[in-house]
Amino acid sequence: MSVERAGQPHPWTARQLAEALAAEDHEVVGVVPRDRGGDKGNGDALLGFAVLARLPFEAELQAITVAPAARRQGVARALLERLIATATAWGSERLLLEVRASNAPALGLYRQLGFIEEGRRRGYYPAAASSSPREDALLMGRALG
Ligand SMILES: CC(C)(COP(=O)(O)OP(=O)(O)OC[C@H]1O[C@@H](n2cnc3c(N)ncnc32)[C@H](O)[C@@H]1OP(=O)(O)O)[C@@H](O)C(=O)NCCC(=O)NCCS
Repeated sequence: MSVERAGQPHPWTARQLAEALAAEDHEVVGVVPRDRGGDKGNGDALLGFAVLARLPFEAELQAITVAPAARRQGVARALLERLIATATAWGSERLLLEVRASNAPALGLYRQLGFIEEGRRRGYYPAAASSSPREDALLMGRALG
């Protein structure tokens, strides 16, 4: 939750995270520093995490957050590469995600890993600031296997 609250303008709740961790059809992965790899269970060491959901034919990236101090070091790329491998092992045909149209760092990450824009939901997200209009969601996908 500390990574999520520090790193996400619209963080998940503790309950949402707990449900994802408990769900059999979800995979939650995290990155810790190399020298803290044996430090299981110590949330202070977490640099970033991501949540993948298994759908009947596809998989969906539901969250990916990296602590601000750990960004631009390949943490998100490592998380996503791992989840691409997980979804491929599940036999999922595609990996899907939704992203705010203004989220340039995330768009850069997804494009670098082969995701392409497949659609747009107009006004899907609440405004980032109360004075601005609602924001579009970009729907992105990547073939697997
Ligand atoms: C998006 C986010 C997860 C990226 O995490 P990260 O660990 O810094 O990303 P990486 O270091 O693995 O970067 C991989 C690639 O993503 C792109 N990227 C990452 N940050 C970027 C930025 N600030 N501007 C432009 N492109 C960026 C680049 O293509 C980068 O490759 P490069 O460093 O070789 O140029 C991180 O900024 C974050 O937690 N943001 C807030 C939460 C969020 O928006 N999550 C996505 C919701 S859909």
